[in-house]
Amino acid sequence: MKRVLVVTGGGDCPGLNAVIRAIVKRAAQEKDWEVIGSVQSYDGILREPTEIMILDDKAVAGIHVDGGTIIGTTNKGGPFAWPVKNQDGTWESVDRSDEMIRKLQYMGVDAVISIGGDGSQRISQQLFEKGLNIIGVPKTIDNDLSATDFTFGFQTAVHTATEAVDKLVTTAASHNRVLVLEVMGRNAGWIALNAAIAGGAEVCLIPEIPYDIEAVAKKLQSRYNSRGKGNAIVVIAEGAMPKGGTLLSEKSDEIGYENVRLGGVARKLVNDLKSIGFEADMRETVLGHLQRGGSPIAYDRILATQFGVKAFEMVLEGKFGEMAAYRHPDIISVPFKDAIDNPKLVDPTCDLVKTAKGVGIGFGD
Ligand code: F6P
Repeated sequence: MKRVLVVTGGGDCPGLNAVIRAIVKRAAQEKDWEVIGSVQSYDGILREPTEIMILDDKAVAGIHVDGGTIIGTTNKGGPFAWPVKNQDGTWESVDRSDEMIRKLQYMGVDAVISIGGDGSQRISQQLFEKGLNIIGVPKTIDNDLSATDFTFGFQTAVHTATEAVDKLVTTAASHNRVLVLEVMGRNAGWIALNAAIAGGAEVCLIPEIPYDIEAVAKKLQSRYNSRGKGNAIVVIAEGAMPKGGTLLSEKSDEIGYENVRLGGVARKLVNDLKSIGFEADMRETVLGHLQRGGSPIAYDRILATQFGVKAFEMVLEGKFGEMAAYRHPDIISVPFKDAIDNPKLVDPTCDLVKTAKGVGIGFGD
């Protein structure tokens, strides 16, 4: 019997379970393969006692509809930076990759499929360089992985953000308010841009187009003046910054991610608008982890299923060191390094930004 180990790493994302189910269903068509899952990323392998799950037909029945991941995930540590608490209460990172690879050999694991974002793909590349037979599947709601047109989970996050805009429109109109919706995306503005267009926002602020606060105020004011409407929706990406500002990733390196996320940019925008004399009644909404939870929409279930089937077929073909990727209309495989080299950001001159500007959305540029 041959054995493939599935790992889900990093933040969860709608569609993870659909990938797992597809791997198991495709593997079941080969007589001599079984699928197991490591609980909470590689932690399940590194813990004593080892925590793995048998992933058979029964375990994955119907799970493509469910959010989260049945095998759990974590974005802390990993085999190259396993956190160890010292006696004085401080933490240090220990490289346990060699030990993990030996353990996988001992467990009779022939191949690993790692489903994750850029951090996971980097770990996969390092494990591959150490001789592990490993395949990648791209995952993130941020859609910022290069080498693939889309990651699963992104469209569900856009859908959730758009529903939020739709709801905010009615309350903004009732109260004559400017409502600011902060969405996720790290250093990329994909979720914000798509939700702003789909929901019909007046302003969209994304990291790739640093904003000028005066220009944002002017745009909002012009809506009041020209249409007599005392309300507006601003969609702001968590990584958005004023001109001359600092990227979210750099800020979080400096002062810790917990200090810059969840409401930081929306609050700053509202305060800065007030401080330059913009007088509308304003409120912030932070969508947060609602964007990561819940059932994947049909598009993401399909893409995730395509990735799962492809990943197992890559195992059969021995395409180790590569990641499944979507290049419309095909599912292909690409070397890990193509996926991790550069994050995929919104090009300020791209057609989608032009479309947004074409329907009057302001970027504060
Ligand atoms: O990468 C996915 C993502 O949801 C980002 O959009 C966000 O910045 C980050 O993860 C949040 O991470 P955490 O769940 O650790 O707060």
